[in-house]
Amino acid sequence: MTDQTVALPAVPASAVEDVVRVEAVSRTFGKGKHAVHAVRDVSFTAGRGELVAVRGRSGAGKTTLLNLVGGLDRPDAGRIRVAGHDVTAAGERELLSLRRGTIGFVFQTFGLVPILSAAENVGVPLRLARVPAAEREQRVAVLLELVGLGGHAAQRPYELSGGQQQRVAVARALANEPDLLIADEPTGQLDSETGRSIMDLLRAVVHARGMTALVATHDPALIELADRTLTLRDGRLVPED
Ligand SMILES: Nc1ncnc2c1ncn2[C@@H]1O[C@H](COP(=O)(O)OP(=O)(O)OP(=O)(O)O)[C@@H](O)[C@H]1O
Ligand SMILES: [Mg+2]
Repeated sequence: MTDQTVALPAVPASAVEDVVRVEAVSRTFGKGKHAVHAVRDVSFTAGRGELVAVRGRSGAGKTTLLNLVGGLDRPDAGRIRVAGHDVTAAGERELLSLRRGTIGFVFQTFGLVPILSAAENVGVPLRLARVPAAEREQRVAVLLELVGLGGHAAQRPYELSGGQQQRVAVARALANEPDLLIADEPTGQLDSETGRSIMDLLRAVVHARGMTALVATHDPALIELADRTLTLRDGRLVPED
């Protein structure tokens, strides 16, 4: 028999591996002389298994950039792709499904629902995705174990320390196995040691699961834990050296 193998056109590795592609993105708030150019002509990519820190002074544009990548806000110019989806061209319905399945969010203020237990909080995205109850419970248990809170499933947020609450928030962000984790100053409300343990956790998860993470932080100790750092100054990316 002849060899029937057909040579497929080579796909550049970068096209496959880049989970985040940001091309010439700008976002301006306000108009005229009151206009604030929060993000100006920013381009970068981030690959699978990469934890990328985004640093810069207060007002440099970190939150604005993360919100754009996560589809929480729309750029005035440029294009953003996450895991092959064009975030900039997506309609509301597609953005909602991206935010529920492809992208996980962790915020500085944790954002847990106060009346729900740790387990119920982690289960919220799974409920939204209509995962059946039995499977949901099992997945929640695995997630809580992963973030070191196996013994705290029944506790409400106010019965947990800040670091523990942020671990619950990380578990919730991971519930739907997103391709991209976006964390905006996830350690901002924690002491430095607890902050470091959260950053260690994020790093371990990103590397173990081949996810990608974009983490905005001011903290030099945490920047050291990142695989790569993007620096923003007045909305512009400072070239890497
Ligand atoms: N919704 C908005 N309306 C008007 N201006 C905004 C809005 N969001 C952000 N800005 C402005 O855009 C600039 C960048 O803000 P951004 O929140 O992205 O900074 P940041 O780097 O996250 O700062 P911080 O470290 O304090 O969180 C700031 O000048 C801010 O005032
Ligand atoms: Mg911010």
